[in-house]
Amino acid sequence: MKKLVVFTGAGVSAESGIQTFRDSDGLWEKHRIEDVATPEAWNKNKKLVLEFYNHRRKQVVHASPNAAHIAIAKLESSFSTHVITQNIDDLHERAGSKNVLHLHGEIRKARSSVDPSLIYNIDGEDILEGQTCELGSQLRPHIVWFGEFVSELDVAADIMAEADYLIVVGTSLAVYPAAGLIHHVSPSCKKYLIDPKAGHDVRGFTIIQKEAGIGMPELMALLLEVK
Ligand code: OAD
Repeated sequence: MKKLVVFTGAGVSAESGIQTFRDSDGLWEKHRIEDVATPEAWNKNKKLVLEFYNHRRKQVVHASPNAAHIAIAKLESSFSTHVITQNIDDLHERAGSKNVLHLHGEIRKARSSVDPSLIYNIDGEDILEGQTCELGSQLRPHIVWFGEFVSELDVAADIMAEADYLIVVGTSLAVYPAAGLIHHVSPSCKKYLIDPKAGHDVRGFTIIQKEAGIGMPELMALLLEVK
């Protein structure tokens, strides 16, 4: 089987009703990153940070996978597929994708604020101030904040290096180190980018300037023919 990597960002979940970050009505228009998505924000105001992610967790729980997530999952039957996502939702998994690597964490999990290996499934529940891990420290969202180490980066780079096909869907490629992963593919890798506003400087990519829910099923059909 040929190896396929699908690298996704917030745009793949936009049609499921989950806001992107940098579009005109995006999350970072309404919230300052420094207030809710950094270790400094956490140290300054845990309640605000917890409320921000508790709200987002509720949104994710009530959202459903869209046609793009489903098309990506369907490709698994014909390609050895890895999904590498910057998203913290679980819509790829709920669409049926088996190999999903979350670079920036997972909203439906909490973790210890002193031992990052202590991770707990909390499903759709809120994390409250005073809720602690088994070591007695405050639980925090299982999210990689700005300025924090992206622990899955090397694994993701190794997966990219093996790809015969790379599909990039719904990401502005503005956030590093994640965005740099696309440069790890081999020169022979066939590369596609799906984004309705695709203005990115991405040489060597076939650009599909459509929403993910349209462009991804179309590309799936094409790849199933050529596989
Ligand atoms: P952005 O909000 O930066 O970019 C979203 C991209 O999706 C843009 O290029 C949009 O044009 C595109 N888009 C919008 N609607 C779409 C649709 N229906 N179909 C396809 N594409 C669509 O989101 P990310 O690139 O994912 O990190 O942002 C990267 C990281 O920045 C996030 O993981 C998050 C954020 O800050 C952390 O929180 C650490």
